[in-house]
Amino acid sequence: MEMSNHIKTALKVETIIDLDTLYDRAFNVLKEAVHNGSKNFGLATGGTMLPLYERIRNSELDFTQCESVNLDEYVGLPKAHPESYISFMKQQLFNEKPFKKSNLPNGEAQDPHEEAARYEALLQKMKLDFQLLGIGENGHIGFNEPGTAFDSETHVVELEESTRIANARFFNSLDEVPTKAITMGISSIMRAEQILLIAVGEKKRTALEALLKGEVTEEIPVTILKKHPNVTVLTDLVI
Ligand code: F6R
Repeated sequence: MEMSNHIKTALKVETIIDLDTLYDRAFNVLKEAVHNGSKNFGLATGGTMLPLYERIRNSELDFTQCESVNLDEYVGLPKAHPESYISFMKQQLFNEKPFKKSNLPNGEAQDPHEEAARYEALLQKMKLDFQLLGIGENGHIGFNEPGTAFDSETHVVELEESTRIANARFFNSLDEVPTKAITMGISSIMRAEQILLIAVGEKKRTALEALLKGEVTEEIPVTILKKHPNVTVLTDLVI
């Protein structure tokens, strides 16, 4: 489904070359949301989030009255594996900054499709105040790979080879990178009241360029954000 290039977009783009300053700004956007009463947070994993979670760990922010939902989880990777997203979140955030309740898809579920349905039902009941997003080199958000329908709900995805290669840096070899994941759908992401997208590093240039200059197309999932009323984009890339 292609749409016109000439849509009005409310994207707030802030280009900040210095990464320390960029992540300080990211922290402040989140802090403001907490102070403004946001209670339900959509969280992301990945290298992009590390400096932000470090700032949160070292802050006074308190999430004990808040609930979190993560975007995605690998299928078939034991929860205790250091690269499972539940392990990542515990290590980077939850051990030091616990939420009243934290939700991730269960990658060990016997039936991943049933698990996706359970997660979707949970999301449908929830008003997501704030969603944190990284961006894939191919323009994915969550693990919604190119070609995913904009009205998609939580589902099981076959990871693109390029995504597995990009994530292989966290594993001993490419073979160890799972081939499937459960991801929140694009429609759930779009229901969030406020979105903060962080895109840093040259590898994200093509995807970011598509968001800022291209048309809205399911071939580049991130482009849907043009149609969201409250997205802040923080980037070190001059586009
Ligand atoms: C992670 C996620 C992904 C990442 C994206 C960028 O939960 O949903 O969309 O945000 O793959 O990953 P990094 O930050 O490692 O470049």
